[in-house]
Amino acid sequence: MRPTISWENESLVMIDQRKLPWKEEYVICRTVEQVAAAIEKMVIRGAPAIGLAAAYGIALGIAKLRSEERLDREFSSYYQRLWRTRPTARNLFWALERMKKVYEENRPDGLEKLKEVLLAEARAMEEEDLAINKKIGDNGQELVPSGATILTHCNAGGLATAGYGTALGVIRSAVAREKKVKVLADETRPFLQGARLTCWELNRDGIPVTLITDNMAGWLMHRGEVSLVLVGADRIALNGDTANKIGTYSLAVLAKENNIPFYVAAPLSTFDFNLKSGNEIPIEERNPDEVRKVRSSFITLPEIPVKNPAFDVTPGNLVTAIITERGIIKPPYEQNILRLKI
Ligand code: MRU
Repeated sequence: MRPTISWENESLVMIDQRKLPWKEEYVICRTVEQVAAAIEKMVIRGAPAIGLAAAYGIALGIAKLRSEERLDREFSSYYQRLWRTRPTARNLFWALERMKKVYEENRPDGLEKLKEVLLAEARAMEEEDLAINKKIGDNGQELVPSGATILTHCNAGGLATAGYGTALGVIRSAVAREKKVKVLADETRPFLQGARLTCWELNRDGIPVTLITDNMAGWLMHRGEVSLVLVGADRIALNGDTANKIGTYSLAVLAKENNIPFYVAAPLSTFDFNLKSGNEIPIEERNPDEVRKVRSSFITLPEIPVKNPAFDVTPGNLVTAIITERGIIKPPYEQNILRLKI
């Protein structure tokens, strides 16, 4: 299998996450518009992976230019197009801002230089992301006792990152240290990232995974069948409020009620140091048909009104700890998060 995302012959290749686990197909993006559409349509998803796609998208757009004539205008149109793809994950904006800085610094040296440095920057971000995930895994595995049953939601694995994963990276690191762990994967309606992607990834690695529907989590916690909850994040505010896949908030409330630790694993690029609280995090509302249908079949009447917020925000006071590449952050969050800011 190729990595989640890779640069090959002046194009960007992504595994089509909409087709998994049934088919392992790859989408080739040759234009910025194709990259933007791949993010919007969830060919590629997961906060760090979206950021990488956007960074490579910028490099791709510039690589295809043959003249400097409209350079600034072209750059700005790529930047804005990618910026508008998905609103919630901080990593997308973090990655675009980083590419913009490199563009501005190297602009005086002209197009050929820009092609080189922008591609090098996107590549560096991919390599860094992999190393960061391994670090998150090493730091986080300390919180995982041998024999634990870990409940996870959505997919915060290799598919959502350059590889290895954040929440699944912690699980992989625990397994690498020969801890015996079992994973409960929420199916994660409506897009089924848990059923389709997390189960596929863990199963390939030989890590024991059991699928549950989202509404089973509370009862299993009540029966003592969950040792800890471990999820990824799309954006974290200074007070620890955490946006993640819809359903995460309910799990945090259930974990609190059942005295189970609730951990978030995320790189620093997911933190929004400008946000005091999660109230200001924009929550993406997706196509109602994702709820009306399972794959291509309607499960309700086509005219039934639907709500489809793709994310929710878990208040920081329900988060036991946040696992980052720089260490484990515990409350009080504002003070401890600011300390990690680069
Ligand atoms: O809508 P998605 O699939 O992009 O949502 C992804 C999540 O909510 C993940 O949990 C989050 O991005 C962390 S991925 C390391």
